[in-house]
Amino acid sequence: MEEKSIARKQPHCLVLSHPFQGHINPMLQFSKLLVHEGVKVTLASTRFYINNLHININNNLPPSISLESISDGCDNGGIPEAGSYNAYLQRFWLVGPQSLVDLLEKLAKLGNPIDCIIYDSFLPWALDVAKRFGIVGASYFTQHVAVNNIYYHVLLGRIKVPLIEDEISLPSMPKLQLCDMPSFFFTYEEDGPVLDMLLGQFSNIDKADWVLCNSIYELDEEVVDWTTKIWPNFRTIGPNIPSKFLDKRVKDDEDYDATQFKSEDCIEWLQDKPKGSVIYVSFGSTVPFDEEQMREIAYALRNSNKHFLWVVRASEETKLPKDFEKKSEKGLVVTWCSQVKVLAHEAIACFVTHCGWNSVLETLSLGVPTIAIPKWSDQSTNAKYVEDVWKVGIRAPIDDEKKIVRGEALNNCIKEMMESEKGKEIKRNANKWRTLITGAASEGGSSHKNVLEFVNSLFSL
Ligand code: UDX
Repeated sequence: MEEKSIARKQPHCLVLSHPFQGHINPMLQFSKLLVHEGVKVTLASTRFYINNLHININNNLPPSISLESISDGCDNGGIPEAGSYNAYLQRFWLVGPQSLVDLLEKLAKLGNPIDCIIYDSFLPWALDVAKRFGIVGASYFTQHVAVNNIYYHVLLGRIKVPLIEDEISLPSMPKLQLCDMPSFFFTYEEDGPVLDMLLGQFSNIDKADWVLCNSIYELDEEVVDWTTKIWPNFRTIGPNIPSKFLDKRVKDDEDYDATQFKSEDCIEWLQDKPKGSVIYVSFGSTVPFDEEQMREIAYALRNSNKHFLWVVRASEETKLPKDFEKKSEKGLVVTWCSQVKVLAHEAIACFVTHCGWNSVLETLSLGVPTIAIPKWSDQSTNAKYVEDVWKVGIRAPIDDEKKIVRGEALNNCIKEMMESEKGKEIKRNANKWRTLITGAASEGGSSHKNVLEFVNSLFSL
């Protein structure tokens, strides 16, 4: 029989992100993976957010990724324009779907139709739009698979809010105490719409063609197996960080800085610091601390007598103690840095973090031990896994009365991490996970296979 060569049509994905740093970063990285596998990608988020990314990422993206935006009803001011995050969500859900329809129609008219929408799981209405257009809909979860599971169990009624049990048992997960649970269960009276949005991630998920999650099978085998039984098309495709810091498979995979903040160059400062001597401190893009907490952290770092690099966002700088030097023999304070580059530097000893999911994935991928100071949202659950499941960190104890971490307590954690046998054990575990995660992302690894399966399904449309 004569063999026919079948020309495969290049699929075109629209990758749609919620306007948060912790969402667009991994979705941009995932877009680059797709491009590497031959897929055409248009990356989109909301108009105000895209216009305010400090780098015009259009100029810095691989040529095969273009950038578009949709309206959230707050084109001139973003979330602050709506007055509150709750009000913002309502506006976005009202305006977003039609704006997404307009974008799809515009791209089709330009001869650039979309074959698949990979939508942030925070925006489940995008799946309804995909179905209207008869195209593939893939939900992309930016948070840890275990955290998603907790929200799903609330929806199933297995966890009642307000929480009353002291210990929560869920299939395939370790026993959780109240302090390990996502914060919105405790603040649901004021954060009701946020909790609704988190539960809404599952409202139409049964109709999604794919459910992708920025996690790694080896990190969470049991919970991933359990989830795959519920959603057979669930796949782990993480960690979505630049390949440059993993297996270096993706060429020209620079650390594109899709940030609303301006990075400062700290690598030069790190260059002459001895291996494993610097404490890196950062609490992500959203968490605010009060002045007292900032003071306790500042004095803990000063008293530790170790080198430290502390990211204090410009909006937080006024909370630093007046007598605290931003540049001294031991320490440097910057308003933003390229975190993966910093974590990959051999001078870094440990990472004091709020345990946002991206920070956890980055520190695990680079084998850096963690001191956890979770503040809200999913961070407490992530901290539980960091300390008790993967054993790559210590959770700093909270002063029950003030609900903050005291300087002395943080200092004890630093000593334990950098000077004790337990610290060495933690570092060995961190290295073990680094190897497993790099393996998962490499050719033939679990995440790589899942990405290929997804991509092949697009090519066979
Ligand atoms: C938010 C939520 O707070 C978090 O709980 C959730 O898991 C994801 O969304 P955020 O607080 O910003 O995220 O934390 P995180 O998830 O850690 O993301 C921060 C991102 O900004 C990371 O990719 C990190 O590398 C980057 N970053 C942070 C920098 O590039 N430079 C910095 O100086 C600080």
